[in-house]
Amino acid sequence: MTAPAAAAPIGIFDSGVGGLSVWRQIVRQLPDESTLYFADRAHVPYGSRHSREIRFYSEAICACLVEAGCKAIVVACNTASAVALHHLRERFPGHLILGLEPAVKPAVALTRSGVVGVMATPATFQGQLYRATVGRHAGEVTVVEQVCLGLADLVEAGIPEGADTDALLRSFLEPMLAAGADTIVLGCTHYPFVIDAIRRLAGPEVTVIDPAPAVARHLGCLLKRHDLEAPAGRGVEHRFLTTGQAACFDRDASHLIGIDAASQAVPWRPDTPRDSEAEPLRLQSPPQPF
Ligand code: DGL
Repeated sequence: MTAPAAAAPIGIFDSGVGGLSVWRQIVRQLPDESTLYFADRAHVPYGSRHSREIRFYSEAICACLVEAGCKAIVVACNTASAVALHHLRERFPGHLILGLEPAVKPAVALTRSGVVGVMATPATFQGQLYRATVGRHAGEVTVVEQVCLGLADLVEAGIPEGADTDALLRSFLEPMLAAGADTIVLGCTHYPFVIDAIRRLAGPEVTVIDPAPAVARHLGCLLKRHDLEAPAGRGVEHRFLTTGQAACFDRDASHLIGIDAASQAVPWRPDTPRDSEAEPLRLQSPPQPF
């Protein structure tokens, strides 16, 4: 493997638009970096899928980002990180791969009631990464896990605000608040798009943690440590790939974070996961290298 150039893009992927909550922090904090964002909307949501499928899709996406010349890959999806991060690092040795784990550590440092709530998908809570994070950082603090079925789907459907979202959020918040949680961790990258509603419904006494700013900071430190920071003032490029429809992604990216994504559609072939011996999942039209 030849070492990637510092001017190469950062690859970022998620099952859908959720990772844009991480993308916007990366772009804000690291303005000289180019990015290649991959949204696997053909398979969203990942959260209720079997771990084998999630690993399968994640590996194929990483292969695509590596092929496109990315110098680092951010798994901007708690679910894919929980299930596949270890596998991806083994599969792509020598590549800088950064995952997301629920921000239990800062929540434990912040709580005054000794109870923190974590909102995430079923697959995230089942993954080893989550268990290890809680084991390492929770100590005496009680961690209340709240599976948030359907919440990522609402964000994907472009309706992060309104009565339906409020009703769903209330049903997720009530058990955590009843248990005494005064700090709530957003353990899915889709959820920062409903953070205002969560704060409003949880009340001013509750701190809600969006991990995206910390992830962008950590990425900046890693790039520096590996001498991979993009040279300043060379111009940046941000490209977006989706396994769904480009027009839908562009509409939703504009709605959520106000950008003109001008995305490219890259359908899968074949479109269902197979056994490990079978034909690997490939993109019908792989992206051009940067
Ligand atoms: N955005 C993803 C996460 O952070 C997952 C949502 C989903 O596809 O279920 O967990």
